[in-house]
Amino acid sequence: MEEIEAQIERFIKEVDENALALYAKASKGKRLRAKLILKIAGESKESFKLAAIVEMIHAASLLHDDVIDEALMRRGSDSINALYGDKTAIMLGDILYSKGFLELVSYDREISKSISDAVAKLSVGEMMDVTLSEKINLDQKLYFEMIYKKTAVLIEATAQSAAYLCGKDSQAFALYGKNLGLAFQIIDDVLDITMSDEQLGKPSLADFKEGKTTLPYIYLFESLNDEDSKKLTSLYKKELTLDESQWIRIKMKERGAILQAIELAQKLGNEALNAIAHDKNSDLERVMRDMIERDF
Ligand code: IPE
Ligand code: IPE
Ligand code: MG
Ligand code: MG
Ligand code: MG
Repeated sequence: MEEIEAQIERFIKEVDENALALYAKASKGKRLRAKLILKIAGESKESFKLAAIVEMIHAASLLHDDVIDEALMRRGSDSINALYGDKTAIMLGDILYSKGFLELVSYDREISKSISDAVAKLSVGEMMDVTLSEKINLDQKLYFEMIYKKTAVLIEATAQSAAYLCGKDSQAFALYGKNLGLAFQIIDDVLDITMSDEQLGKPSLADFKEGKTTLPYIYLFESLNDEDSKKLTSLYKKELTLDESQWIRIKMKERGAILQAIELAQKLGNEALNAIAHDKNSDLERVMRDMIERDF
């Protein structure tokens, strides 16, 4: 991983020293997408560079996401928008995106096209997420379309590109990445409910307050009686008291909504593995398990 960190820093430095100084202030994250590339494509100059590019693009999406979500915490620290304002976060995001695209140009068309198309879809996914947050969404189809675009598409393109890089079956790896990405976002949505602020490195139960009815909420609404359904509706987009937060967590558990979401994530995780069963790679099973069994 140090090689990838160093590569990211070299890339940003090539653009601008000040941008590098700013980037150095941001926390680094789990590097799951980079690990995915190295586990699929093995270690080479090309795979290290691709991993650095994808992590830069991912970091850019988070810089913009925190502006969009007005999120003050990221990766356990103050977000860049909290520290230096929205303008700085947007501009640093732009630098990371555009340098990422510039470096992608040196790869085969299949790879540069796959990753840049994924970023266009990710942006549409972010727009959809914002639109869906305007009022309570209970449509699972819309939820899945949104999380596919905002999260799974980049992981899909990452796995596909890594496979292409080393001559593996890129379609099979695309399917692996897609299912992994869907499972990953479902788990992100579960953790928002089940974890504490400390564990998450950002405020928990933020999604419902931001207007997001993620999968556990959709399941919960489906299972509540009229009275409880009315109560949950009344808490939508509201700053929750401790009692109200506790009530949501208890109902989530009692009605099995959390378990139902986790089970679906596990099913998608297994489908991911089935797609690449021919590759016999226990590391990729580990990547999948790490993504699903994580607690932050
Ligand atoms: C966060 O992604 C945004 C989502 C797609 C859920 P990660 O959880 O991979 O973020 P970092 O890079 O480890 O911080
Ligand atoms: C994921 O969405 C962000 C991107 C894929 C760009 P979220 O808004 O759910 O991510 P977190 O929870 O802030 O990490
Ligand atoms: Mg966010
Ligand atoms: Mg968001
Ligand atoms: Mg989230």
